[in-house]
Amino acid sequence: MQNFLKVAENVNVTPLLLALQRQPDLFGRHGARQYAPGTPHSGMTDVWVRYNDCRPFEAGERPWSEFNDAHESVWYPEADAIPEVRPVVFDLMAKVQGERLGGVLITKLPPRTAIEPHIDGGWHASYYDKYYVALKCEKGAVFGFPDGEIHARAGDVYWFRNDVEHWVVNGSEDERLAMIVCIRHSRGAAWSA
Ligand SMILES: [Fe+2]
Repeated sequence: MQNFLKVAENVNVTPLLLALQRQPDLFGRHGARQYAPGTPHSGMTDVWVRYNDCRPFEAGERPWSEFNDAHESVWYPEADAIPEVRPVVFDLMAKVQGERLGGVLITKLPPRTAIEPHIDGGWHASYYDKYYVALKCEKGAVFGFPDGEIHARAGDVYWFRNDVEHWVVNGSEDERLAMIVCIRHSRGAAWSA
């Protein structure tokens, strides 16, 4: 498999899962801005934990058309609401010898729904390596690539490429929760070095 690689398992995601369970209102706050209706990701609701600083854009100092341009990521207020994110993220940074931390996103896909095949573009997608931390993933929830499928269990972590076609099918009866962590390595993104 060239498009994904398992890098960890049995990561303790239980405290993070419980924090999300207690605060369902965290989902969907920034979703409309990131994924306009009609885009492949529109079936998901998200918690943006870390990304480009929204404030200059919300204040009208910069146009939203520049929001996804090159930037330094910052922690969002949601990171304070879910401090359980940080140990998982920084343990992963250490494990994979990451050098720069980009976006951190938690996604929720309802039961019996799917994200259609697509390729992610833009600066952030091409600059950072992507890691998928499975938070809740019941049997039948599949992360697909042209060369195979990830059937994850909660606590599994996979490096994956989002510059190739990929899709998600949640064929289970439960929601699928995933955390995406974007990490820059010293040699650059694995596919652009
Ligand atoms: Fe994607």
